[in-house]
Amino acid sequence: MTGKSMATPLTQNIIPDREPLDITQYQQAGGYQALRKAIKELTPEEIQQAVTDSKLRGRGGAGFPTGMKWSFIPMGDDAPHPKYLVANADEMEPGTFKDRLLMENDPHQLIEAMIVSSYATQADVAYIFLRDEYKLAAHCLKQAAQEAHGQGFLGKHILGSGFSLEFHIHTSAGRYICGEETALLTSLEGKRAIPRQKPPYPQASGLWGKPTVVNNVETLCNVPHIINYGAEWYHNLSHSEDGGTKLYGASGRVKQPGCWELPMGTTIREILEEYAGGMRAGYLFRGLLPGGASTDFLVEEHLDVPMDFDSIMEAGSRMGTGGMIILDDKTCPVGMVLNLERFFAQESCGWCTPCRDGLPWVAHILQAIEEGRGQMEDLEILEMHTQFLGPGKTFCMHAPGAMEPLQSALKYFREDFERHIREQHCPWRN
Ligand SMILES: Cc1cc2nc3c(=O)[nH]c(=O)nc-3n(C[C@H](O)[C@H](O)[C@H](O)COP(=O)(O)O)c2cc1C
Ligand code: SF4
Repeated sequence: MTGKSMATPLTQNIIPDREPLDITQYQQAGGYQALRKAIKELTPEEIQQAVTDSKLRGRGGAGFPTGMKWSFIPMGDDAPHPKYLVANADEMEPGTFKDRLLMENDPHQLIEAMIVSSYATQADVAYIFLRDEYKLAAHCLKQAAQEAHGQGFLGKHILGSGFSLEFHIHTSAGRYICGEETALLTSLEGKRAIPRQKPPYPQASGLWGKPTVVNNVETLCNVPHIINYGAEWYHNLSHSEDGGTKLYGASGRVKQPGCWELPMGTTIREILEEYAGGMRAGYLFRGLLPGGASTDFLVEEHLDVPMDFDSIMEAGSRMGTGGMIILDDKTCPVGMVLNLERFFAQESCGWCTPCRDGLPWVAHILQAIEEGRGQMEDLEILEMHTQFLGPGKTFCMHAPGAMEPLQSALKYFREDFERHIREQHCPWRN
């Protein structure tokens, strides 16, 4: 491993415009070493402990500690079987494209990670739940899975051990709510994708009522590196309490939109200025959604905040997926939030009333304001909706997530909303 690859383990095999490594090349680059080490030298409990010690937190949005999640899976002879491991590759969060990068460019890394993670939780069957539009990722993963079967890394008695793993790639029918882990499981069972009540959590009663771990693609891809180089090495890659590196993204009117693997806790300013190249000529920075569409806006005063789960939370937002969406001075914040709320309204699964009826109302009011038909009272009605659709009021986190860009836009860009109403048109359109 080169110095560069030690610092960026998840993307070490990724070279732009190059085909992903086949199984021979992947092994020459050190691939499937973690699987050999796990199965031949480590117990499942030792792997779980290493993941706990590494301080890996889930990269799907909520940042739940991965080792703790795994520790809730029943282990031992009395544990119910089959047990399942599911890689959440739905990635429909606007502004987020990190899992796609990993799957299209290094599919064997995810497959090795899933085998090691299945061994650690003693799962019998593993699924990749893949976003419908990710056709290239589906192709790369299918080919890699076939190669892994051919080498005895998947299927019965892996590497001659007592551990066997059935492996499937399942393509989603294409709804945002399928990314919510319990809706994902319901969908995988062939039913309409609506979230399930928690508890019971999937670790106790998941797919077909059996113990199931659901982890994000990026989360899982860290596991082989923790096994190869140890929990302490992994934790020290970070600039913060949370372990490891993070794939951060930037979209909007920056000079170089993209996705970069950097130490966890890199500041927003460093990502924007050094990696995204700063704002394009003629555009000024106004704010950003730090972790996809369903996070609160942050503004200029937050640029030096480290991008890690706790620091971004203290600043009043969530790190979410780490896929930043940048708002510039030539884009109308009302129009931007309207666009997002239309998406969230369309993607409501319809199960609970505040979300099913409230989100279209929010979009309707925002459209009126954007088109110059708004009234000052509309801002109070929008504020009320951020409460009615907030945490604890709906069946899952879809509606509260949808309220995050709205409530923070009303806080930081209120003057822009008021101007639309006073002037009865969108100041950005004329
Ligand atoms: C509406 C909604 C959509 C979600 N979409 C995704 C997704 O596309 N990918 C993902 O990994 N997690 C998504 N999540 C989070 C998952 O429910 C779950 O927390 C995650 O897959 C757990 O993996 P982790 O612990 O590795 O982060 C979504 C959550 C909600 C509420
Ligand atoms: S909050 Fe929305 S997406 Fe979640 S269960 Fe209720 S209706 Fe469905």
